[in-house]
Amino acid sequence: MAVVLVTGGAGYIGSHTCLALQEAGHRPVVFDNFSTGFRKLLVTEDLVEGDLGRPEDIRKALSSFPVEAVVHFASHCYVGESYQNPYKYYHDNLLHALNLLEAMKKEGVNKIIFSSTCATYGIPREVPIPEEHPTDPINAYGHSKRCIEWMLEDYRRAHAFEFIALRYFNASGADPRTRIGECHDPETHLIPRIFMAIAGMIPALEIFGEDYPTPDGTCIRDYIHVADLAAAHVAALRRLLAQGGGDFFNLGTGEGFSVRQLLEEAERVTGRKVPVRFGPRRLGDPPALLAKSHAALRDLAWVPQHSSLPVILETAWRWFQKDNRL
Ligand code: UFG
Repeated sequence: MAVVLVTGGAGYIGSHTCLALQEAGHRPVVFDNFSTGFRKLLVTEDLVEGDLGRPEDIRKALSSFPVEAVVHFASHCYVGESYQNPYKYYHDNLLHALNLLEAMKKEGVNKIIFSSTCATYGIPREVPIPEEHPTDPINAYGHSKRCIEWMLEDYRRAHAFEFIALRYFNASGADPRTRIGECHDPETHLIPRIFMAIAGMIPALEIFGEDYPTPDGTCIRDYIHVADLAAAHVAALRRLLAQGGGDFFNLGTGEGFSVRQLLEEAERVTGRKVPVRFGPRRLGDPPALLAKSHAALRDLAWVPQHSSLPVILETAWRWFQKDNRL
């Protein structure tokens, strides 16, 4: 059993990872300032309310518990916003990661799992994308995540840090037991916005671009269930504790679905019609992103269990109805 500090543990992927850590016998300690996290997503009372902008908050968290490893989720994560406001992404994401690494160094904690993204690859030259693919982000969000990966490599060389960076494709779905699920404010992600359109909370789902070089003209993404992402963190922790790190792993299924395919499946799962309208492309959206996740299968023994499209949409729909009291 390990005590694990989870920054952003009240966020979407962070909270599901806390659940998975608990179920594997570990003790997650949430570090969150609730700027974008939600109290309703807390799954433990081990909580430090603090801000990564204040190094003393992080040191307090690391010294109040016998922390063996850190999982770092807390960051700004909207691709579109990062286009409009790069300062926020460079300033906060980078400075907060640096504060965290320095506090870890001072408190003698040297193991970290980092929440990275397929946005580090930019527009892929080959799909599915292997980890060796060149990184060339096309937005400030992707740049900030890639810079943090470099920080981790430099801290590994200079200070014997051990890290595993997990590059997620499209996180989706909700806890299969509907205890927690996806929450963002504002909500920009495709699946919850489809449900918002079904529930009449927005007039229609806007499809961002229908002229992409894909079979039906809409963007293709690799949707990976959040419970599978959470399980990958538990496997990464096991590897980090047993043999150290320095690794990058893609987390996706390798199978892609277009926006139109998501809409069709959502209509089947909910039995409701989705009102749609067509809009222009969204800045920073590559046409297709698919993962080659062979390394995670090989080194983490990670096999997605919940990531078929029906299970993703069914679990997400159950949570959406519960969360919105529908
Ligand atoms: N989309 C729409 N209409 C919407 C919302 C989304 O058509 O109202 C489309 C997007 O253009 C995209 C797809 O649906 O093609 C998925 O969009 P999401 O916003 O759900 O997810 P993203 O692919 O933009 O973002 C995800 C993660 C990011 C990560 C990024 C990598 O949320 O953290 O993948 O590109 F960086």
